[in-house]
Amino acid sequence: MMGNRALIVNHSPKSIWAEAFRTLRTKIIYSKSGMVKSILFTSASAGEGKSITVANTAVVLAQTNKKVIVVDCDLRKPVQYKIFKKKKTSRGLTNFLTGECEIADIVQDTDIPNLRLVTSGPLLVNPSELLDSDKFKEAISSLKEQADYIIIDSPPVLAVTDSCILGSKMDGIILVVGVEKVQPEMALRAKEHLEAVDGNILGIIINRSDTFVEQNAYFHYCGNVGNVAN
Ligand SMILES: Nc1ncnc2c1ncn2[C@@H]1O[C@H](COP(=O)(O)OP(=O)(O)OP(=O)(O)O)[C@@H](O)[C@H]1O
Ligand SMILES: [Mg+2]
Repeated sequence: MMGNRALIVNHSPKSIWAEAFRTLRTKIIYSKSGMVKSILFTSASAGEGKSITVANTAVVLAQTNKKVIVVDCDLRKPVQYKIFKKKKTSRGLTNFLTGECEIADIVQDTDIPNLRLVTSGPLLVNPSELLDSDKFKEAISSLKEQADYIIIDSPPVLAVTDSCILGSKMDGIILVVGVEKVQPEMALRAKEHLEAVDGNILGIIINRSDTFVEQNAYFHYCGNVGNVAN
């Protein structure tokens, strides 16, 4: 589903999925946390739906004429280039972080108006250090000047430290919980890891639930991340 089908808000705008993403958009735009411009999407474990959620959230934000930049900060298993049909070899974040090029060289237009993409760039051996660098801070502040929203994809919290590093630097965090994939206590542990680095958790998205509705899909946004444990 990483090709065209991944952007469900585009190919099925009337689906319950698309409506759920529009609800999430409203929550983001009118966030009680005030202006959140850079938002990290992460989850406890692999395959819970982070990357799909990032791409669709970015598209619905762009549809309201917000300028959006998706940044693929999953420097281990990047997929945003596939979703937005870019070359795997295109220059991306790691090229900037290693001083090979300027920020303008890594921001690409997509087929979607108002939506631009920074791909991961070549995979390197030290992603955590790259994300904890001054160069990364410089990248984010420069991208924030160029857009209304910076939407960040990332690896799982419990697998590697990257998402905690990212969470400490972003205005807000949305925890994607794939309920058929993850134990509630793991989701809770991920939340605790993010809070330990002063991450501002805006809410959770319940994804991959076979139980609640038809279409094998259910997205829900709730402001209270404590629900993860209930
Ligand atoms: N609600 C859903 N129903 C069915 N399939 C889904 C749903 N959400 C995501 N998927 C599928 O699950 C797979 C994993 O999704 P995705 O890549 O977005 O997860 P991820 O959390 O980014 O994974 P990773 O940790 O490996 O980066 C994809 O094939 C995606 O199409
Ligand atoms: Mg992913």
